[in-house]
Order: sequence, then C-alpha cells, then structure tokens
Amino acid sequence: MKATCDIELRQAESKEKVTHMKNIIEVELKTRKVDFSKCRTDILAVGLFSDAKELDKLNKELNKKLDGAIDRLRKLGDFKAKEGTNSIVYGNSETGAKRILLVGLGEKKKATLDTVRNAAANAAKTSVELKAKTMGLALHNAFGGKLELSAMGQACGEGAYFGSYKYDEFVTENENGRLGSLKVVLVDPDSKKIQKLKKGLSTGNAIGKAQSYARTLANRPANVVTPVKIAAAAKELARGSKSLSCTVFDEKQMAANRMGGVLAVGSGSQNKPRFIILKYTPPGKTAGKLPTIALVGKAITFDSGGISIKPSANMDEMKLDKSGGIAVLGAMKALAELAPPVNVFGIVPSAENMPSGSSYRPGDIIKTFSGKTVEVQNTDAEGRMILCDGISYAVKQKCDIIIDIATLTGACVVALGKYMAALMGSDDGVIKDLQKAAAASGEKVWPMPSSEEYAKEMKSKIADLKNIGSRWGGACTAAAFLRQFAGDTKWAHLDIAGVWSFEKATEFTSEGASAFGVRLLTTYVIGIKNNKK
Ligand code: BES
Ligand code: MN
Ligand code: ZN
Repeated sequence: MKATCDIELRQAESKEKVTHMKNIIEVELKTRKVDFSKCRTDILAVGLFSDAKELDKLNKELNKKLDGAIDRLRKLGDFKAKEGTNSIVYGNSETGAKRILLVGLGEKKKATLDTVRNAAANAAKTSVELKAKTMGLALHNAFGGKLELSAMGQACGEGAYFGSYKYDEFVTENENGRLGSLKVVLVDPDSKKIQKLKKGLSTGNAIGKAQSYARTLANRPANVVTPVKIAAAAKELARGSKSLSCTVFDEKQMAANRMGGVLAVGSGSQNKPRFIILKYTPPGKTAGKLPTIALVGKAITFDSGGISIKPSANMDEMKLDKSGGIAVLGAMKALAELAPPVNVFGIVPSAENMPSGSSYRPGDIIKTFSGKTVEVQNTDAEGRMILCDGISYAVKQKCDIIIDIATLTGACVVALGKYMAALMGSDDGVIKDLQKAAAASGEKVWPMPSSEEYAKEMKSKIADLKNIGSRWGGACTAAAFLRQFAGDTKWAHLDIAGVWSFEKATEFTSEGASAFGVRLLTTYVIGIKNNKK
C-alpha cells in the first residue's frame, strides 16, 4: 500500500506545473529603426546626465518639438538628473510619444552598465505605475561612445524585466487593473546601431526573464513551495530545453547515496527533502573537451531554526532561505537559452528546517555524503549541512570549478549590509572572474576570507567537524566549513544572506525577493574561456 502511494506521489511530482505565472507581468522586448522623435509609444524614455551642460542631439530635437519644455524644466531646477530620479514631459502633436520620460543618469564620468540597467529599470517601473503599455527606450543615446552598444542593449533588457516586476499573484482584491504586459522597444534611427542593440537585447531577454522567474519562485511562501515543488520546477525546466536534463533523488535515493547532511536537516518536516541535479550540456559534440562548472545552491524552503529554534520576529522572512537554490535554477534557465560552450551542473539540495519529534538535534553526529562526520551544535546552522553534500556531489562528478550560493549567515548581513554578497574562495582566478562578472552584471560582491584560522574553529573533538564556530567571524567560519568539502577542486562561495531581498521598493524595483545571483552566475558562466583548466 505504502509503496503504491509513493509511486503515485512521484508521478504527481513530475507532472505538476508550478511555474505558470499568469499573474506576473509579461515583458516583450524588441528593437525598431525609427527617428527618436517619431517613435509612437505611450512613453519614450531618454537619458540625461546631471553634469551635462547642454542637451544632447536627441534631447535637443525633442526639446524643440516640445517648444523648449525640457529646457524650462531644467532651468526651474525641478529635474537635476540624479540617478534614480525621473520627470515626465507630456508629448504633443509633434512627438510620436504621448509622454517623454527624462531619466536621470547621474554624473557622466561615473556611468557604467549598471547606470544603463538602473535607468531602464526605473523607466519600466514608471511605465507600469502609469499603466503605459508601450515604452520606447532611447537611453543608450546619451552615452555616445562611452559604452559598447550591445552591452547596453543587454542592460536595457535586464533592466526592463527588473523594473517592471511585482509579486502579486495571490492578491485577489484591489488590483486596480495592473498591466498584464509591457511592450518595450529599443529605438534608434541607425540600422547598424540597431543590429548591435538587438544582439545584446536577446541576451538581456534570456537573463531578465530568468531573473523574474526566480523572483517569483523565491517569493512564493513555504506552504506553496516545498522541496518537492522545487524539484518539480527543475524537471519542468528540463522538459522545456533539449540541453537540460534533470535527476531528482527522493529520501530513499538520498539514503542509498548516504547523503546524511540533507537527510538530517529534512528529517523534522512533513515536507520531505529532495536532492536536485540539473545538467546543461552544450549543443554539438565537443562537450567532453569543455570545462565543467558546478553551481550549488542552498534551497531551504523554510528555516525555523529547527530544535535550535529562531525567535519569532521576522521569522516569516525565512521563506526566502531557498534563494540560493532558486538562483541556480534561474541561471540554468538562462544558460539553456544562451547555449554557452561549457558543461554546467546545477545542484540544489532542498529541505525544510523544522522542529519536531523526528528532527535532528544539537549533539547529533551526522555522516555526510563525503564520509566526513559532523557534530551538530546548532540545528540552525543547517545551510552548511545540506551544501556540504551538494559540494561533495560536484567533486564526485569531477567538476573543474564549484561555486556555491547560499543565504548562509546573519553574520554576513552584519558585515556587508544589504548591498553586496560576500565572496570567499580557494582560487584567485575564479575569484577574479566572479568579481568581473559582478561588475558587469551589477550584482555586487566583496571579498572575505575563509582560510585555515577559520577552518580550525570548525574542528570537533568527537567528530571530524562541528557545524558552528565561535562568536566571531560567522560568515568566514561557515565558508571555511564548506571549503573542506571541495578538496582540491577550485571553489568559490557566495553568501547572499544580505542581498536576498529588497525590504522596501526602490527607485528601480519592487520589494521582496531579488533573485540575486541569476545575473552574476549567468554572466560568469558565459564568460568562461573555452578550454579545460
Ligand atoms: N538562513 C540563515 C541565515 C540568514 C540569517 C539568512 C538572516 C538571512 C538573514 C542560516 O541558516 C542561519 O540560521 N544561520 C545562523 C548560523 C549560526 C547558528 C551559526 C545565523 O547566522 O545565525
Ligand atoms: Mn538556519
Ligand atoms: Zn538557513
């Protein structure tokens, strides 16, 4: 009887759809060769630098058609073009656009791709608020030759998704007719420029779409998203792409594989743990010669702390403790579309950390997948207990580089606040490449140590390791714990505990899950050089 139930459950898992997002705004991205001032849209976004003495050619042209309205606005000092600000000038019979949105770009010498991405996000957020269905984007024009056009096209695409996103799928009242979709058109009168913008825009579309997908999965609460549902989402991704395959271990298969870490953390919950493996194989027959990267993400669907239970204030936020694992799913989705010439494993150990009669306890000694034993001193240090099995699995698959991503420690939030992820690692090359990817993607990282001093604190007297260190340097000791499971494989770790969400809406996006890591990891992987080691 029990066996048949299990089979039925397994079938239900693989068929279940969890990622239809009927309530989330759809974004459509296109390019069009057209004169800026003739572009027919509900809103046309143009950029202005705060230190620009005079208007650029595009804004001059618009200004003229608007009888000097932009000049008057600037003279009055109502719009100073600081980053994160904007101002609307209404169009007239001379302009194709009903509204001209002046978007502040800050100082020109400080401008980066992040400025473009943020400006596009700000414009998209404003369009949605105004219920403007079509938005023309001419932000690239203000930059002249300062930044590469295709990179700007990508940043515009990513920004359009980021800014228009709002999580409201369970709000049934007072929706007040939010837009169902936003059509974004990158415009320029020069067809060569359009070609370049278009190339970047398709990359931006893949990454932006994947990030919004990940934000929704992360935002969904723990009564909706369980480890089984995360597994179903991974299977659904694999069904949608020829280059992705998915394997999921249930509790029995994990037990057969001796994945003691994930099993221990999952043992207290009615919602059973899963070990999820997505594999991306690039098209063509060269896969064997190409490097293999492992992305390992922590997916705790709810972290109550377990027997070492957390205080109740803000405990609801711990539904976001799956953010690392979800970022890996998002990156895999984008990579499948972008088809870079590397092999990628997306490894997502998933469990719910709950207190109950079957929970793992402080004092327990757990044998992990690697064979190493861990003395549990605090059941709330559960992330490392599941990640160590994920990292060991990647080592067993002979991956060349392992990157794990996790909402791992409160100490990381104390150290860096909510603006940057901590970056630790064992290989200078991988760390540098991740820093480069962070600069390009606008998902910022800051280096922190995980060296021998910190590893020493994680030694146990009665097992190989214990799962907590001293009072100090908690983000570093947690990383030093994980480092030991990577062995000689090049390894890096991203602690995203601070950057997992926006507490309040910003000028660029709405509150809630950020899906930090989707842009960073995707950018990192597509930048990997095409040779093994
Ligand atoms: N998921 C938390 C870390 C966290 C805290 C993420 C705050 C985001 C915001 C993690 O599982 C945890 O509970 N870590 C403990 C570790 C401690 C027991 C050594 C912590 O940071 O307090
Ligand atoms: Mn915890
Ligand atoms: Zn946690």
